[in-house]
Amino acid sequence: MKKVVIAIDGPAAAGKSTVSKAVAKKLGYTYIDTGAMYRAFTEYCLRKGVDCQNEGACVALIPEVEITLYPDGKVMCSGKDVTREIREPRVSGNVSYIASYKDIRLAMVDLQRKMAEKVSVVMDGRDIGTYVLPNADVKIFQIASVEERAKRRYLENQEKGIPCTYEEIVADVEKRDRIDSSRAFAPLKPAEDSIELDTSKLTIEESVQAVLDIIKEKVGI
Ligand code: DC
Repeated sequence: MKKVVIAIDGPAAAGKSTVSKAVAKKLGYTYIDTGAMYRAFTEYCLRKGVDCQNEGACVALIPEVEITLYPDGKVMCSGKDVTREIREPRVSGNVSYIASYKDIRLAMVDLQRKMAEKVSVVMDGRDIGTYVLPNADVKIFQIASVEERAKRRYLENQEKGIPCTYEEIVADVEKRDRIDSSRAFAPLKPAEDSIELDTSKLTIEESVQAVLDIIKEKVGI
């Protein structure tokens, strides 16, 4: 079977992980949530009492941080199951700082490339099509309006029992978009050869189908 690499990038809370997971399941590919890796690193900094805005102190933790993503969505970081914690507002509010540090990105990217070496993957993030996997067979840039993204994330948090207000989510999404798009190294931006998919008015099922249609057209599966 041909090895296929699908890159799905886009701003915070655009539904990338939900859609990527469903697409990967449908095609029998491995889903890789790169945001979870930056989140796990952030949780580790907070666990160690390190200020996430102190680049030197965060970068110094790289040798201690060991991140493993499991097929069922479990995320382990240096001996601790952080699956739930990495979705908490204290992590969401700090993760963009961690993701802006070049040395941390290089360590994460190394891991991400290794994960995509041997198997077909659907990888979601911010810089997958532009930097991590520039030769991906299909590159999708998934977007949605800020209001729609905040609404979805708010409902998701409510379902998971993570306390937050809608206003907090709007502020977090806008702040992360700003930091993620303006950082110097591998910022959030569409790859030149990416296909934009606006899911503001689409249901999850319609978004998944739209991605499958794009993949079918591009790689014929
Ligand atoms: O997709 P997410 O919300 O879980 O991502 C968390 C943060 O990690 C996001 O604010 C930006 C950063 N990120 C990144 O810089 N590069 C990636 N490939 C994935 C996520």
